[in-house]
Amino acid sequence: MKVFINKMIPEIGIKMLKEEGIQIIFSENENLSHEEWLKYCQNTDAILNVGGDFKYDKTFFDTCPNVKAIALYSVGFDHVDTKEASQRNIPIGNTPDVLSRATSDVAFLLMQSVARRTSYNFQKIKDGNWNTFDPLHALGQELYGKTLGIFGLGRIGFEMADKARKAFGMNIIYHNRSHNEQAERELGAIYVSFDELVKNSDVLSIHANFTPEHTNLFNHSVFEKMKPNSIFINTARGGFHHQNDLYNALVAGKIWGAGFDVTNPEPMSAEDPILQLSSVCILPHIGSATIEARNGMARLAAGNLIAFSKGEKMPHCANP
Ligand code: DGY
Repeated sequence: MKVFINKMIPEIGIKMLKEEGIQIIFSENENLSHEEWLKYCQNTDAILNVGGDFKYDKTFFDTCPNVKAIALYSVGFDHVDTKEASQRNIPIGNTPDVLSRATSDVAFLLMQSVARRTSYNFQKIKDGNWNTFDPLHALGQELYGKTLGIFGLGRIGFEMADKARKAFGMNIIYHNRSHNEQAERELGAIYVSFDELVKNSDVLSIHANFTPEHTNLFNHSVFEKMKPNSIFINTARGGFHHQNDLYNALVAGKIWGAGFDVTNPEPMSAEDPILQLSSVCILPHIGSATIEARNGMARLAAGNLIAFSKGEKMPHCANP
């Protein structure tokens, strides 16, 4: 079996594939144009896809009929039309669980960072404005006993809620497609409507899978309803939030601050005015960027392809 890999992944995954005699075709450069990428895909049996730049939809599957399996180097699969793939019996592998800790760590970090105004304070030092101790200046807020609202309480949301509960005794409310009984039992999480989530959260953190219906779900009308000292966190997908509405809400003081590891659009422009706000903390999609998580992702992606090459079901499949 021939596998095309568009960006280098940790060695452990490459080794696993080679040990199984799988032929690997590496991309000549890591920033392929759409045409270059298609050429590679037309001449391969399977793809190990890194990143969300390329869309796997009907047009793709029509153009690349030799592709029989795709292993994503991600847990998210919003760039794949999984229905279309299923109709063609093309399994789409993904990498759940191994990045839940790392991604929720970033959500937790952003929550604290925004609450304690780290961007503002760091900038103050860089600007040479660190003067004397000031009892009334740059005050943050404590998270103890506050309410954390989770939109999408799956594996990553659970890890975030668990940390918030243990560290700060935060109360957990959540909105999800269905009840998460483990979170209700172990964390005392309470299921609420979307509207209640928005109105009652001191920190609102997104951890759902992104689908097209979610596009700009967190927009002007949502930010209007949030508490004035609430914090908005997005480590899921940038498409969830309307970035300009978020900017306006922050400027108008509708919410306290925002922390996000995913942007809309992504990558975002260095000219985006939201970067000038001291109430935000923004990271360039590094949720899974730990040695442990990235090695785990490499193992799962390779494992998915190896299973497929043996005629077995992929152990982690987004379109079972
Ligand atoms: C994921 O795994 O979905 C992360 O966002 C990295 O793309």
